[in-house]
Amino acid sequence: MRNCLNDLKNNFDFFLRNHITLSRKNYTEKAEDIGDIVIEDDNKNFLEKLKKSYDLELLKPSTKRNFLENLYFLNLFNKHFSKNNRQNNFILDIGSKNWSYVKSEYVFSKSVSQSFVLNGIEIDPYRLCSNLYNRLEIAKYYTKGLENTNYIIGDLMTHNQKYNYIIWILPFITEYPLLRWGLPLKYFKPKEMLEHAYNLLNKNGEMLIINQGEHEYDIQKNLNRTLKLNAEYFGETEDIFGLFKNKRYCCKITKS
Ligand SMILES: C[S@@+](CC[C@H](N)C(=O)[O-])C[C@H]1O[C@@H](n2cnc3c(N)ncnc32)[C@H](O)[C@@H]1O
Repeated sequence: MRNCLNDLKNNFDFFLRNHITLSRKNYTEKAEDIGDIVIEDDNKNFLEKLKKSYDLELLKPSTKRNFLENLYFLNLFNKHFSKNNRQNNFILDIGSKNWSYVKSEYVFSKSVSQSFVLNGIEIDPYRLCSNLYNRLEIAKYYTKGLENTNYIIGDLMTHNQKYNYIIWILPFITEYPLLRWGLPLKYFKPKEMLEHAYNLLNKNGEMLIINQGEHEYDIQKNLNRTLKLNAEYFGETEDIFGLFKNKRYCCKITKS
């Protein structure tokens, strides 16, 4: 009953925000002096390794929090994605929200390919964030100046380009978070979405999925098994900077 009411409300709000346009000043953030990141001795190697392979200057200008968030993701891509040595790569981020972490994907894309297209797809771009800007407005700020990087407004299920790398951070694989994030229940299709995302991969393409909490990770494993996907499990991710309230878990699906 409660889910039904939430679903009704989400349908109504979702419709409204997709049909009302607000006009105001562009979103910006005040860049902070990143300086040398204070990092525990145990983790120094991690930063040195990233500095050797990637141009971390591309993550700036930035706030400290956003810089660390991007380092967290870049570290994951570096550890778990294969460098495929292709000249051209197509990279997709699924459910990009405000795409605050786009620079990690951009820096990774740039380092693995001479030319690339980086797309982020989001079905609910007009949802307001706590600062009262919507996701699209904020994403425009984070993607400013990044070449070949596109924030696509749309449903993954109707998107049909092919990709070499797919990144899927916190897919909705239980109903409750989807309802809390304001989406109508008709968009709750974890199995169909995973299957569709898998079909978007080129041969030897790789998809990294990050889940929140062990319960969602277990459901993810079951979905992967049901669809007979070739998956590797990396367990809990390293949250060196203590950025996230909940533990995150990671797996990679490869298309043979
Ligand atoms: C839990 S949020 C994760 C957001 C972001 N990846 C992050 O880690 O901050 C899931 C996102 O997926 C989006 N989403 C859900 N279903 C989608 C679909 N069918 N197509 C595109 N985006 C979708 C939601 O609107 C939401 O922004």
